[in-house]
Amino acid sequence: MPLKQEMNAWTHYWSKAPAMSRGCLPGLPEVAANHLQEIWRQFFASLPLGARLLDLGTGGGAVLVEAQAFRSDLLLTGVDYAAVLPELDKTITLHPGTRLENLPFDDGSFEVITSQFAIEYTNISAAIQEVDRVLTFAGSYLFICHHADGVIVRDNLPRLKAIRETLSPAGLLYTAIQAVRQRKKFTPETWQRLARIFTATQLKHPDQSLVKELADDIARIMAGPDSLEKLLALRQAVEMEGQRIMALKKAVLTENRARILAEALSSKQQPAHLEIVHVPGVSAPFAWRISNRPRMAPPAEINTT
Ligand SMILES: C[S@@+](CC[C@H](N)C(=O)[O-])C[C@H]1O[C@@H](n2cnc3c(N)ncnc32)[C@H](O)[C@@H]1O
Repeated sequence: MPLKQEMNAWTHYWSKAPAMSRGCLPGLPEVAANHLQEIWRQFFASLPLGARLLDLGTGGGAVLVEAQAFRSDLLLTGVDYAAVLPELDKTITLHPGTRLENLPFDDGSFEVITSQFAIEYTNISAAIQEVDRVLTFAGSYLFICHHADGVIVRDNLPRLKAIRETLSPAGLLYTAIQAVRQRKKFTPETWQRLARIFTATQLKHPDQSLVKELADDIARIMAGPDSLEKLLALRQAVEMEGQRIMALKKAVLTENRARILAEALSSKQQPAHLEIVHVPGVSAPFAWRISNRPRMAPPAEINTT
């Protein structure tokens, strides 16, 4: 997919994201979100006082917000190529419209670099060169990346299939838009046709709540004013989500790609540690953890009685 299209898809997403939904994974189960939080907090706890931290592909600032809540002494900066990003606390510096492959910072500007589900979307070798350049000599990094066999990918691929079907010429959205364009939106034939398409789509994608949600949106829009503009906006939002899932499909790291990334980040003095992140109670992998700071074993319980 062309770079411009990917950037537009993320800009669209972040410009519409509700203020409090920090992440690009709004439906993430609580157990997974808590596990991620624990990984980040353990890393933040190891950082020197007042360290300058750069978060790559920051989006809604999920990592920065967590860092600020846990370590208010850190100096936080986020970059992302999306042209619009949700607002964060005034003390956090954001650089929207900035590619990770070409960072606007001097050499050695940061003691810490982080990324959550972002560096794998880039031209990885160019992004790593930039990480090497802007990180101080003994600096720390932690990257959480999509795992090719992970639950996030597993859940999103069937959604992409359903999205493609609703966007096809015989699909729900196209049919509704045609009916409005031809001024046939109120005819019984239009509603019957849409009902038939909805049933067939739902039968093909029984686990995808998206089909019912879209059908409800379409029915609501068609019954009200400005149907054409609203349907076109809805189609655009669905197309953009499809593009983000396609970008995810391309970005995910197989074991081979994860090893290549870790090796490229390694230096003699500081090897990169590559680990699979598992969410407690879930057998499928969740993500990769790549860092020059090994993960500490959870602290032994201290008996205070
Ligand atoms: C899956 S989202 C993750 C956002 C955030 N880190 C989080 O955990 O919620 C990926 C982010 O990386 C950004 N991104 C992808 N490729 C990029 C690139 N080459 N340069 C800068 N940002 C990029 C996207 O705009 C998007 O905000």
